[in-house]
Amino acid sequence: METVKEIYMDNAATSWPKPECVYQAGDNFNRQIGASPGRGSHSRTVAAGQVLLNTRENLAELFNIEDSSRIVFTGNVTMAINIALKGLLEPGDHVVISSMEHNAVARPLYVLKDKGIELTIAQCAPDGSLDPYHIEQTITERTRLVCLLHASNLTGTIMPIDAVGQIARRKGVLFMVDAAQTAGVLPVDVEKQKIDILAFTGHKGLLGPQGTGGLYIRPGLNISSFIEGGTGSLSEQVYQPDFMPDKFESGTPNTPGIAGLGAGIEFIRETGIKEIHSHEQELTDTLLQGLRDIERVILYGPRDSNRQTAVVSFNIRERDCGEVSMLLDQKYGILCRSGLHCAPLAHRTLGTLRTGACRISPGLYNIKDDIDKVVRAVYEIAISG
Ligand code: ALA
Repeated sequence: METVKEIYMDNAATSWPKPECVYQAGDNFNRQIGASPGRGSHSRTVAAGQVLLNTRENLAELFNIEDSSRIVFTGNVTMAINIALKGLLEPGDHVVISSMEHNAVARPLYVLKDKGIELTIAQCAPDGSLDPYHIEQTITERTRLVCLLHASNLTGTIMPIDAVGQIARRKGVLFMVDAAQTAGVLPVDVEKQKIDILAFTGHKGLLGPQGTGGLYIRPGLNISSFIEGGTGSLSEQVYQPDFMPDKFESGTPNTPGIAGLGAGIEFIRETGIKEIHSHEQELTDTLLQGLRDIERVILYGPRDSNRQTAVVSFNIRERDCGEVSMLLDQKYGILCRSGLHCAPLAHRTLGTLRTGACRISPGLYNIKDDIDKVVRAVYEIAISG
């Protein structure tokens, strides 16, 4: 049987492959350093601590964060979001989110809603776009936080974070951004965009390994931690140090992963975030153009690469999205994600909560020929039944 060359189209879940330097950085750490950072004072624990510092500084530069100690490493963006929401909000607080949020934001907030916070979900248009005015209208004197994703993992729709940041600052409300889908692909600047809290993951646009992510908390903002333990600092005290980042970083971190993440960010800096984005935009344009012309294909989202990241969701009329994605995989070697994408609020906004959708998300290492093959495969499936 002929083997089909695999085409990976699930970069919105995890980017793959990684730049070679990312694999090497993790491998080098494991082989040549391998120690716990900041535990004791031997040369390799110091070298491991240096790895953390280096990645923290890289992140700070990327997001225009003045003090890198305000960045906390976490296992992923979900963990970062949970730390922020649960450490910040108290019964009686009012929170505003959009109707395109991922479960990483929605689920912790529904838990907190049961404990007495008030939640408002600002409605987005069926293409996922948000009118900042809808956010402004929902803000009351009890509003503590506006929490918004930078781009949707379902449609790629880019949210107006600049405008919402300004509204939040003007109204004296905290602004938190979930940059899971944009860090490393679109510019994020905590000062310019008036971001008080930034949650990000390492394994998507930042090109790092899975098991990496983080949280930025702006100076002066107090968030409580729900994890205490060893930090290698102030070990004589029974209480957790309350300085950053140790307050939130108990236990040995994923240092090999963080080494890889640092290498990913350095790669992005050398390649240029603009260049990466424009390559992904070209792929998105080709994909949108190709799919748009296929009869029976329903495309979701803005359908405009200037308004979305490299994420394109679609359905074939009268075909089950799970079956379509299985055919793409088994017959054409095309790997994509179908279903609800852990984003039922977003699917409800699009009107696809009952059907789900197929999502194609090209990445840095895809080429136009991959997209042509995807379009051809979707066409063949669409005309076949
Ligand atoms: N949130 C990731 C996705 O959209 C895993 O697939």
